[in-house]
Amino acid sequence: MSLDLDAKKVLLRKIPHGLFICGVQEADEVNGFTASWVTQGSFEPPLIVIGVKADGSSHGIIKRTKKFSLNFLRSDQKDLAAVFFKPQKALGGRFETAPFRLGNLGLPILEDSIGGIECVTIGEIVHGDHTIFVGEVKSAYLNKDGEPLNLSSTGWSYGG
Ligand SMILES: Cc1cc2nc3c(=O)[nH]c(=O)nc-3n(C[C@H](O)[C@H](O)[C@H](O)COP(=O)(O)O)c2cc1C
Repeated sequence: MSLDLDAKKVLLRKIPHGLFICGVQEADEVNGFTASWVTQGSFEPPLIVIGVKADGSSHGIIKRTKKFSLNFLRSDQKDLAAVFFKPQKALGGRFETAPFRLGNLGLPILEDSIGGIECVTIGEIVHGDHTIFVGEVKSAYLNKDGEPLNLSSTGWSYGG
């Protein structure tokens, strides 16, 4: 039986997602993009699973450097999430409006967010238009606890 594309789309869009800024760094360049396909994959070691668009600029950087950060946005940071998915003039330009520091692994950690983690990739599945990276959490920085930004509250969709 063939796949019912309409049912697939309706159902996959029901998967609840948070919204994060994934950060990457290579040489003296940093970049970041809005990511929603993120989940925890293991307690011990702590693993994060993320789907990254294969034709995006950050994809190659994660593949080469084997690391990424994840910044946890607050529920009032929808505008910042929009900055990080829109096209930018130059790599890393989105950070002009978002002050950050570099974590232990050299990855961008936003100053204004709930906090951020740094991960080292331990595996990847290259198949389809997104690559699944599995990252082990190596550092965690809590700025200030708060309510996280959920995709469902934004009216946007990414999935289906
Ligand atoms: C609501 C929303 C969620 C998104 N989630 C993801 C995601 O999980 N993974 C991904 O690779 N791109 C995701 N994107 C798309 C990227 O944010 C966008 O393509 C960005 O421009 C990529 O930046 P880069 O090319 O500089 O890496 C999402 C976009 C939107 C609007």
